[in-house]
Amino acid sequence: MSVFICGSCGHLEFGAAPAKCPVCGATKFAQNDNVFKESEENAKEAAAKHIPKIIVKKECGLIPDSGCVDVLTVIGEVKHPMEEAHFIQWIDCYVDDKYVSRQILTPGVNAGALFHLKTAGAKVRIVENCNKHGHWTAEAEL
Ligand SMILES: [Fe+2]
Repeated sequence: MSVFICGSCGHLEFGAAPAKCPVCGATKFAQNDNVFKESEENAKEAAAKHIPKIIVKKECGLIPDSGCVDVLTVIGEVKHPMEEAHFIQWIDCYVDDKYVSRQILTPGVNAGALFHLKTAGAKVRIVENCNKHGHWTAEAEL
């Protein structure tokens, strides 16, 4: 699938570049269909610290009986550092490869996020960006 990277905030769009970045509003996108492959190749030994782990809770804990789904994600089977020099900057959530929302992280917090979704989609995708090791992704069924 075609992948487009926002030149300003690093947000990814799948399939086609949007007129405007849904995160920061920038208009310049560069195509790089190998963005995840490149991260893996540049940091092979670090995959366990970067590939998002996804837990889908079909029984929403926030608004029960409303058709919502909670998507919990933590970055890495092995906990990723969250230090000034090396940390996960943000975690983006997609449903069927359409962007839904971003969680911005700062050094000192744990590298995880919760996305509360109301959707009829089939697949959730998580994309995270490490300031040193780039973009990483994982998918789960909804
Ligand atoms: Fe990293």
